[in-house]
Amino acid sequence: MSAPLLEIDDLVVSFTTRRGRIQAVRGVTLQVHPGETLGVVGESGSGKSVTMQAVMGVVDSPGAVESGDIRWRGKSLLASAVEAEDLRGRDIVMVFQDAMTSLDPLFPIGTQIGEVLARHRGLKGPAARARILELLELVGIPNAAARLNYLPHQFSGGMRQRIMIAMALAADPSLLVADEPTTALDVTIQAQIVDLLIELRDRLGLAIVLVTHDLGLVAELCDRVAVMYAGRIVEVADVWSLFAAPAHPYTAGLLRATPAIGDLPERLDTIEGSPPDPSDLPAGCAFRLRCPRADATCVVEPPMSHPDTGRSVLCWHPEPPPVTTRPETAHV
Ligand SMILES: Nc1ncnc2c1ncn2[C@@H]1O[C@H](COP(=O)(O)OP(=O)(O)OP(=O)(O)O)[C@@H](O)[C@H]1O
Ligand SMILES: [Mg+2]
Repeated sequence: MSAPLLEIDDLVVSFTTRRGRIQAVRGVTLQVHPGETLGVVGESGSGKSVTMQAVMGVVDSPGAVESGDIRWRGKSLLASAVEAEDLRGRDIVMVFQDAMTSLDPLFPIGTQIGEVLARHRGLKGPAARARILELLELVGIPNAAARLNYLPHQFSGGMRQRIMIAMALAADPSLLVADEPTTALDVTIQAQIVDLLIELRDRLGLAIVLVTHDLGLVAELCDRVAVMYAGRIVEVADVWSLFAAPAHPYTAGLLRATPAIGDLPERLDTIEGSPPDPSDLPAGCAFRLRCPRADATCVVEPPMSHPDTGRSVLCWHPEPPPVTTRPETAHV
């Protein structure tokens, strides 16, 4: 496998709150390789966004990276703020759930994309204009030349999302981090944005980190999946293995709680209980109080094991793999 683009190494991010210091991210280790699409899933509050905010250097105050490292092509982003600033927004870019958080409501979209081109690529004048039109065409904005002077609110939500993606792609990034990129959109527009991401990935060879609650989207889009729980990664697997044989009891619970096509919603299981309070985590495995497989061993923190299957799972008692053979072509 080629060298990773991004390496997150034992990352700890904490927030100082009225109730004391809480660790939102508690030792996350993760790699993203060129061209791959990695899904990051897990319940609300599990630390998905904060991990990615740390990568982008935009952890909200009063949060801070406490320890660990984040490397881009082998170089620490935490060691040199100047270099990291240059890489972010150029090689590593992020799109958010709500395009209005990235687009300035007061400036025409052409100007905003132009700024990225000037800053990261030194492009100005007619060359910049040509590139802006090319980018807008790439993301499927019809009649782009006539709309360069439109303000963000003059576009629909789906179109704004496309413009935000065009802006993110302006400087030819290698990695696109998308945090819930379709959640705020209605279902048909969601599907169009997903198709756009697939097309861009295939055409541009982009690596994508997709943060989402939508396991259907993960199955459709991702090569690998990292499952987060209470600030830790509890399982990492290729998408086929994860869906066919979840190893962590939490992953298994998440999948049972996800409707398959044709299932009636009332037949779905739920994971009993709620995620632990980050300021009051149980000793040992953070999932143990909700876990059907937990026993006395689980009061000790489990290691991220690599059992015979090559699976990474943070659990003393992973689910046994089902007795099936892998088909020639994976259909998830
Ligand atoms: N600015 C902040 N101040 C204090 N705590 C914060 C702040 N931002 C995040 N947190 C805490 O960090 C933890 C992880 O939050 P994060 O936003 O990463 O969750 P998430 O997995 O992205 O959830 P969701 O699926 O709801 O987006 C949560 O307990 C959250 O309350
Ligand atoms: Mg989030």
